[in-house]
Amino acid sequence: MEQEIRRKTVLSGIQPSGVLTLGNYLGALKNWVGLQEQYDCYYMLADLHTITVRQVPAELRQNVLKTISLYLAAGLDPDKCVLFLQSMVPAHSQLAWLLNCYTMVGELSRMTQFKDKSAKHEDNINAGLFTYPVLMAADILLYQADLVPVGKDQLQHLEIARDIATRFNNAYSPTFVVPQALTFPAGAKIMSLSAPTKKMSKSEDGDGTVFVLDPKDVIIRKFKRAVTDSQSDIRFAEGKDGINNLISIYSCFTGKTVPEIEAEFEGKGYGEFKIAVAETVADGLTPLQNRVSEFMKDREYINRILTDGAEKASYTARKTLSKTMRKIGFYDTSK
Ligand code: TRP
Repeated sequence: MEQEIRRKTVLSGIQPSGVLTLGNYLGALKNWVGLQEQYDCYYMLADLHTITVRQVPAELRQNVLKTISLYLAAGLDPDKCVLFLQSMVPAHSQLAWLLNCYTMVGELSRMTQFKDKSAKHEDNINAGLFTYPVLMAADILLYQADLVPVGKDQLQHLEIARDIATRFNNAYSPTFVVPQALTFPAGAKIMSLSAPTKKMSKSEDGDGTVFVLDPKDVIIRKFKRAVTDSQSDIRFAEGKDGINNLISIYSCFTGKTVPEIEAEFEGKGYGEFKIAVAETVADGLTPLQNRVSEFMKDREYINRILTDGAEKASYTARKTLSKTMRKIGFYDTSK
């Protein structure tokens, strides 16, 4: 008899701590859309993670609305995947506590994101910032995810999730699927326009970060100011971080390959290239921006999507949570 092949499960999330950047869109969201057809996908808004850094309450609410609207506008389809808000599924906080007790302080202190963020928020080095990767492990392990699409900056967190899963499985019996990272070559890392050796980041809203909801004139201004190098040829090469980044962005929007782009701009100057990239990005984002504003106006629809999503996610999450609790030895009144 043929064995039924289980579709692999995918889980990923983005923190709704601000408007998504071009990096979030190209590096994450756009790739997620394609995965819906092939896998059982869970895509969440990691709002619990955002409060490791102080949030303005009204802004957090608004950012959740914007981010879920962006998920939908980008093509994530609630009939094909589970779209949900992390804070609406209590199992995330619950499993995170349990997993805290299977995670070593030593391994958490090695996390580079913790080190970076504590340097940046010296006045608020809270325990949540430290145990952030444990909550992320809970997010992943609750759904028995096989694959986790992440940017390179999250690979260390994924590694710790794998370590926690393996440790728990070994201490009891197989409980969690040990997840694997899924990284995408193109757009996996869009760099800041003003400091092209650093990732384009939501929290640094200078001219280096393009937000997907930026109006056209702002996009043009940011690209015009993009840091390049002292040469003049539009060529993808080592040491030309700024130009490489612009080439990658242009490639993501046009589908053209690097050699095609180099040929297209042969003999042209950086100024002209920057404008071409800016126009392409701005025009490419316009339909997305229009869809986002439509979704944002339809609160009833958004609320329904979030309620349904939380219900579906909870169903799976609760199963894993009870299994985990049983293994640990918590008292069970149904027995
Ligand atoms: N930490 C991730 C980021 O900032 C967001 C995130 C939270 C996540 N939970 C996750 C990503 C689970 C993948 C899987 O990018």
